[in-house]
Amino acid sequence: MTRTVLGADEDGLARVSAAAATVTTPFHLYDTGVFAARAALLRDTLPGALLYSAKANPHPALLATAAAAGCDLELASEGELDALASAGVAAGRAILVGPAKTDALLATAVERGVGTVVVESLGELRRLITVADRSATGPTSVLLRLGLDGARGSLRMSGHQFGMEHAEVLACLELLATTAAVSFAGYHGYLASQLLRAADIEHNSRLVSSAAATLAGLGFPGARLDLGGGFGIGYTPGDPDLDLAEVAAGLGRVRRSVRAGTTLMFESGRFLAGPSGVLVCAVVDVKTTGGRRFVLLDGGINTSGLFGGGNGIRGLRHSVVRDGAVLSGGPPSHLCGPLCTPMDRLATSVPCAADVGDLVVWWNTGAYGFSAAPVNFLSFPPAVEVVV
Ligand SMILES: Cc1ncc(COP(=O)(O)O)c(C=O)c1O
Repeated sequence: MTRTVLGADEDGLARVSAAAATVTTPFHLYDTGVFAARAALLRDTLPGALLYSAKANPHPALLATAAAAGCDLELASEGELDALASAGVAAGRAILVGPAKTDALLATAVERGVGTVVVESLGELRRLITVADRSATGPTSVLLRLGLDGARGSLRMSGHQFGMEHAEVLACLELLATTAAVSFAGYHGYLASQLLRAADIEHNSRLVSSAAATLAGLGFPGARLDLGGGFGIGYTPGDPDLDLAEVAAGLGRVRRSVRAGTTLMFESGRFLAGPSGVLVCAVVDVKTTGGRRFVLLDGGINTSGLFGGGNGIRGLRHSVVRDGAVLSGGPPSHLCGPLCTPMDRLATSVPCAADVGDLVVWWNTGAYGFSAAPVNFLSFPPAVEVVV
């Protein structure tokens, strides 16, 4: 049976226990089989190509798995380009996205043969042309990132520093017509993350496709159109799962509204990496102070971006594991990490029977965990990453 989540079932618990027998906690455990299955699931759902967003988890094993599963890659930095090289994946399969790309980053991308640069401003396009002019490599393809208002979702990129308004896009198109150093390939829009309603994904995709249709109507059709994504996952016990049949139906409608011959692209990080990974911590101490029971773990907010910051999730699903089995119930407890700050609380007043030596497993934490963690805060050693 193909597993699409590394979960609290017999198989998942066996994997966690096997890793815990050989690796010191805290550690992240990634399952490439689950990752590949999720890539296949999403690719089957989408009416276009799927790119894996390395920002969610740039572990080379996952980048290699994504590439083997037929996904190209969406990258943002030299570090992610290095990870791609470590994974043995050609840079030609990558697109580079992100605001504030420096000349050095653009030059590295061009020299390494990154397939496409997603341009986010007229100034950036001018600098890219200068860099590409100096380079011996062939012309770089360019997608123009559309900055659009009106997107749905709580983690919105629309109305922020990403992409360009219509007039600036037109200025870019005029400039592109005058150069051979880079070639115009189409448009890009990424408007929100962690969407759990198929209707919101359709709505946001339609915003991008309508803006691209307007530009095509002005004489600037693009061969490729990146509609973004935002495919969410259930983090807390109350979260619904994304209904992939509804996503397929909604995006199918968008597909039919797009000019024939356009290649559609989508991007996803957390849908692939999230349920493929878990964070495992050990209970170091248990005590009661001020009438509150505290369960103290060897990994805290320093181990995962999901405990705080922009990606922070309240009520992250977790289990206490003793001797390979889940231990349910227990007195209300606060689960805290080792950092000397009250911010290092991972769960508040949850039933928890854990005692010293037990494991606490944080499910669905393979995306924006290690990659988004404030690892240097209090200088504990970084959590280990284990791949199975
Ligand atoms: C441009 C772009 N693409 C893709 C993603 C991946 O989002 P997710 O991991 O939620 O799929 C992000 C997330 O911030 C993004 O900014």
